[in-house]
Formats: sequence, C-alpha cells, structure tokens
Amino acid sequence: MPRLVTARNAVILVNVLVLSALFLHLRFALFDRNASAASPAGLTHLPDELYDEQQANEASPTPSERPLKANAGIKPRRTAVVVASQRSENATWLIDYFPQWEKNIYQVDDPNAPLTVPKNKGRESMVYLTYIIDHYTSLPDNILFVHPTRYQWHNDDPDYDGVPMLRHFQLPYLEKEGYANIRCAWSLGCPNEIKPLDEQGQHREAIHAGGAYKLAFQQLFPETEVPSAVGVSCCAQFAATKEKIMERKKEEYVKYRDWILETDLEDAISGRIFEYSWHIIFGKPAVHCPRAEDCYCNVFGVCNLTCEDQGSCAGRYSLPPYATLPQGWPYIGWEGEERQRAAPEE
Ligand SMILES: *[C@@H]1O[C@H](CO)[C@@H](O)[C@H](O)[C@H]1NC(C)=O
Ligand SMILES: *[C@@H]1O[C@H](CO)[C@@H](O)[C@H](O)[C@H]1NC(C)=O
Repeated sequence: MPRLVTARNAVILVNVLVLSALFLHLRFALFDRNASAASPAGLTHLPDELYDEQQANEASPTPSERPLKANAGIKPRRTAVVVASQRSENATWLIDYFPQWEKNIYQVDDPNAPLTVPKNKGRESMVYLTYIIDHYTSLPDNILFVHPTRYQWHNDDPDYDGVPMLRHFQLPYLEKEGYANIRCAWSLGCPNEIKPLDEQGQHREAIHAGGAYKLAFQQLFPETEVPSAVGVSCCAQFAATKEKIMERKKEEYVKYRDWILETDLEDAISGRIFEYSWHIIFGKPAVHCPRAEDCYCNVFGVCNLTCEDQGSCAGRYSLPPYATLPQGWPYIGWEGEERQRAAPEE
C-alpha cells in the first residue's frame, strides 16, 4: 500500500475534522439562540437604535436584499406616544427628543387638525379612547399616553421636565406589567384620592370627582363592584401594552367614549373619573400606589433612593407652589430669580 497517510495528509485531515466540529457547534449554538429569541417569552425590548435600523430597512426593495443581522429573527417592538393637546400647545419636543417613537399628536380643539376627536369633551380621555378605538386592530406594542407640554407641574421630575421622565421610562418593565403609571410621587392621587362610597353625591372643590365617581363607575363597569377607595398617582399619564389593551374588546372602549359623549358632567369631572379609572381598566387594583422607592426603581430605573415616607423621595418630585410654571422655567425660578436645573436633561 502506497504511503497515502503522509504526515501532511494527517495534519489536513485533523484540521478538517476540527473545523467541521466547530462549524456544527456554531450552527447549533446560533440555531438555539434564534429559537429562544423567537419565542414570545424571550422577547424583550430592543434598543431603539435597532428599531431605527429595522425601519430604515423597510425601505429596501426586497426582503432578501436586507443585510443579515444577529437579530434578524426578532420583530422589533413598536412604541408610540399618544398626546392630547390643544392648538395653543407645542409638542415638537417629543419629535426632537424621541425620534424613534411613533407620534400621535391629537388636537382636541381643531376639527381640521390631522388627528382630532369626535368632540372636545372629557379632557385627555377622549383622545386616549379615540386612539385605541381607531387603532384597535393595528396597535403598536407599547403606547405612552401623555400630555403635550414639556415642562408641566405634574411631570415626575425635579424640573418637571418630560424629557428625562420619558427617557428614563423603562419599557421592559411596562412589557412585563402591561400597564405602568408614568409617575411615582404620591403627592396627588395616592394613597386614596377617591372614596366612592363615602363621597357619593358630595361636592368638594370642582376638580374632585368623588361625588360623581360611584354612579359613573356603575355605568362604565357594571360587572365590577364599586371599590371603597381608589388611588393612583395623579394626572393621567401612563403607558400600556397592546396585549393589555386588547384584554378588553373594542366595544368596551367605544362604550366608555359614548359615556363621555353623553354625560352631563363637566369635563373636569368626567376627565377625572377616567384619570382614576385607567389603572382599573388595565387590570390593576382600585388602589394602585406602589411605594415610591420601588416605583422609581421599576418605572424609571432610578434605584436606591432615600425616601422619607412611602410617597416621596429625596431629589425627586416635589409639589410646586403653583400649577403654572414661571416663564423661562427651568432657568428662571418662582421668584423670577435665575436658577439651575435640579437634574440633567439626560
Ligand atoms: C415649539 O417649540 C419649539 C422648541 O421646542 C420651537 O422651536 C418652535 O418654534 C415652537 N413652535 C411653536 C408653534 O411655538
Ligand atoms: C444605596 O445607598 C446607600 C446610602 O443610602 C449606599 O450606602 C449604598 O452603597 C447604595 N447601594 C447601591 C447598590 O448603590
């Protein structure tokens, strides 16, 4: 037998075997990873840059021409903001700072605006419900329902600035919970803003909805017992996932909106009834007031804060003296004095 198995041939054979083994191992590892990433349980929020990339790729002529990527098997989650604004308000900061989010800026007082509502009634609740109803079959994955003004007294930020508030908002936490209030401080709304049973028929200051809440609740949620206390940190800015929203039928949202369209209650009251119902609609208990310390960590990723009581933490939100911020805020203070930002924009 000729000497086929020379030393050189042996080395080549060993190399081929090693390379084959390596190839099989890699294939197996990659295949496994793709398989787990494709399962719903493995789906997590993708970095926004990736989402932008995916969007850019939509423009390429055929799917086969798209460059191969590590995450090619994962459908990026869409995130949208729904904004209830008036003609006089300016929401361009959302476009400037959050280019990766879909914007739905409704103008309630302009029937000719690109996005508007059937009737300007019930404050932001009319916008939020109209968005859900009109997009029910094509909802994005995550939806943030917010007010239009960048600096507003109830934004949970030391400067009342919506930019850091939304930048810190933790989409993975939302995706886990289905609903998250975009505010942690308890100073208004928690621990129990409304006592529907005790306050039925009462008239406190105009903005308090306690007197009308019980009857409204019975009309809106006839299948649910009226709770004795309702609490959620104030002001109707929250987020919900598509899955959570779709746990209720579209007809229910239509029914809620019809209730607003038909009610004789003034807007401040009907709007407030919804302000204190969204968390219930999206599956939270009537009193939804997590400890501020936990809430800041979960919702905004700001952890290990020093909190004096359950509802307020050092260096975070404090109730401002007036609801209207001074002209020139955050660089002009309450007495017209110059001031520095309390925290960076980031
Ligand atoms: C809205 O605010 C931006 C700054 O965020 C400003 O550049 C723009 O002129 C404002 N638009 C209106 C209509 O006031
Ligand atoms: C949390 O804060 C305390 C002081 O309040 C500090 O001693 C500790 O190191 C902090 N822990 C982390 C994980 O940052």
